[in-house]
This record gives sequence, C-alpha cells and structure tokens, in this order.
Amino acid sequence: MIHTRLTDLFGIRLPVLGGGMMWLSDAHYVAALARAGALGFITPRSYESLDTLHEALRTCRHASEGHPFGLNITQSRRSEENRMIPAWIDMALEEGVRSFETVGPASRALFERMQNGGGRVIHKCAFIAHALKAQDEGADAVALVGGEAGGHPGTNELPTFVLGALALESQRLHIPLAIGGGIGSGRQIAAALALGADAVVMGTRLLVCEEIWAHEDYKRHLLAQPAEASILALTRTGNPWRVLDNATVQRTRELEAQGATSYPEFGALATGRLGRDNAYLRGDWNTGLLSMGPAIGFAHHIEPVQAVLRRLMAETSMRVADVHARELPLSTLHPA
Ligand SMILES: Cc1cc2nc3c(=O)[nH]c(=O)nc-3n(C[C@H](O)[C@H](O)[C@H](O)COP(=O)(O)O)c2cc1C
Repeated sequence: MIHTRLTDLFGIRLPVLGGGMMWLSDAHYVAALARAGALGFITPRSYESLDTLHEALRTCRHASEGHPFGLNITQSRRSEENRMIPAWIDMALEEGVRSFETVGPASRALFERMQNGGGRVIHKCAFIAHALKAQDEGADAVALVGGEAGGHPGTNELPTFVLGALALESQRLHIPLAIGGGIGSGRQIAAALALGADAVVMGTRLLVCEEIWAHEDYKRHLLAQPAEASILALTRTGNPWRVLDNATVQRTRELEAQGATSYPEFGALATGRLGRDNAYLRGDWNTGLLSMGPAIGFAHHIEPVQAVLRRLMAETSMRVADVHARELPLSTLHPA
C-alpha cells in the first residue's frame, strides 16, 4: 500500500490508474483493476446503448467486491456525439460510481455534474495550460499524458517526464497530479513518485492482461513487439493517433502522401470499429488503427492484472529502497 494524495482521493491502495481504453475497458477488466488495488475506468462509448452500459456498471460493481471503480468521459470533437454524457454520468452515480476520468474541454459545469453527486474527477490532458484550466474549473486532480501515450496523446509532443517535472516546477498546480504515457515498469513508477507525481496512468502495458477480452493472437503479436513498433498515425489531422505499426498505418501514410489531412478522408481506415472487428475480435493485427504506445516493450507475458501490478509495485519498492541504500551523498552534489 502506498499513500499519495490520489490514493486518498479515490480510496485506492496503489498509485496506479488504468486509463480508459475504448472497446477494452469493460466490466471484467475494470473490476480486476479494482480488486488489485488500482483504479480503472469503464468507457461508455464502447456500449451500443444505455441498457448495455447499465448492465456493465452493475456487473462491474458486483465484481469489484466493494473496491472503487470509475467511468471515463471522453468528450468528442463532434458535439452531437456528446449528447449522452449527462445520462452516462447520472447512471454511473446511481450505480455507486464515484471516480471519473474526463478528457476534452475542462468545464465547471461538467465537473460539478459529477461532484454534486459525490464524485471525484481527474481531468486528463496533454498541456500544462490545460491542466491549470482544469484546476481553475474545479477538477479534483489532473493527469498529464506525454507524447508517448497510446491512443490519442494530443498534439503536445513533450515526453511524460518532461511534462510532469515542468508542471510541478511551475508551482502553479496545487491539486494532485498523475502522469502517464510510456509507463510500464516499476522503475518508472518509482521515478514518477520521486518526481512528485501522486500516481501513474497506464494503458498500453495492461493491454496483454488476461482480463482484456481482445483475441489471444492479437495479444501474442503485441508481446513480440519492441517499443519501436509504436508509431504516430494521422499526424496531419490535428488529432494524432499512437498505434501499432501495421498495414493500415502504412495505407494511411499513402493517403497522406496523396494529400489527405482530415479524418473523413481516411474513411473506414480511421475508425475504431475497424480495429475492434478485425484485431480485437478476430486477431488480425494488420487491420485497423490499434492504440498502442512504446510501453508495450515492457510486456512479456499474458497474465492476470493482479500479477502484473504486484510485480510492478515490488519493483517500485526495490527502486526506492535502492536509492536509500546508495545513501546518495547530496553534499557532493551541492557543494557549499
Ligand atoms: C487501446 C487503448 C485505447 C484507449 N482509449 C482511450 C479512450 O477511449 N479514452 C481515453 O481517455 N483514453 C484512451 N486511451 C489512453 C489511456 O487511457 C491512457 O491515457 C494511455 O494509454 C496512457 O499511455 P500508455 O498507453 O503509454 O500507458 C487509450 C489507450 C489505449 C492503449
């Protein structure tokens, strides 16, 4: 058990947030994170209807065995796709959810909808300016993700540890901070805590967990990937996508070379459903843009969430102990 302002805020045992993952953060996976002491977030966009989302929330509540779990609210750039957000929040609150991860514009009205029902909100973003805006708008905490993050890392290319250190050194951020992007080892968790962060956000490293429903062939393919197999696609659209290098990415690059710059110009290639239907459901890793960051390089086995987190936290403790054992002679670093 490690105490930070974020473990206290969310009532969790480990300083680890399993960031929401479209199609994959279902009740089974999120409940496994909860039982292991971390915090996961169900992604409502993965469900076809309010009824199926409701069913997932109930299942997760039961399977979490009393441990907290959360809901991810990813606001779309297309406003018509955000119509259901109030209904998702209200339903989650009714089902006992008290932890929320938001993405997109930070607004007091959005945060208060959750907070007025007893919820706590961590707002995830890629720029320090956006984190400060979220703080001003009343978010309980912020997560800063670097350009290494799997999925849509935003347009800031700063790496996770530069972003986190700059945010903390600015001394303007007073609410708890998580950092994420590229994190998949205990060494990095220890470094994040040493930096002054209150938790890490992980996505990619957990993709190969047993509880992730994606096809076993897909997970086995991921295990064979080096960190360098993570690349940025659709960079000219203003909404880049960090994914597994595959035939679909190469096809989008050909279209870019022919002048494509907006999502509609890539047609079905740029939809999440293509990857879900081919890679996740059938194991065909070559078809679809498949969110994945370089932290895949830390994954070597398909194993339960709990086993991964236990090992990561043991490594974290070892690294912290190692720093103490070396009794770093600070006086030589700062001569009088
Ligand atoms: C497969 C996958 C799907 C993702 N889907 C979402 C999403 O729907 N909403 C969201 O806020 N973040 C999403 N993310 C980002 C994660 O929540 C998290 O911020 C990110 O994975 C952290 O970086 P890492 O992948 O390097 O660990 C996704 C990431 C992955 C790998």
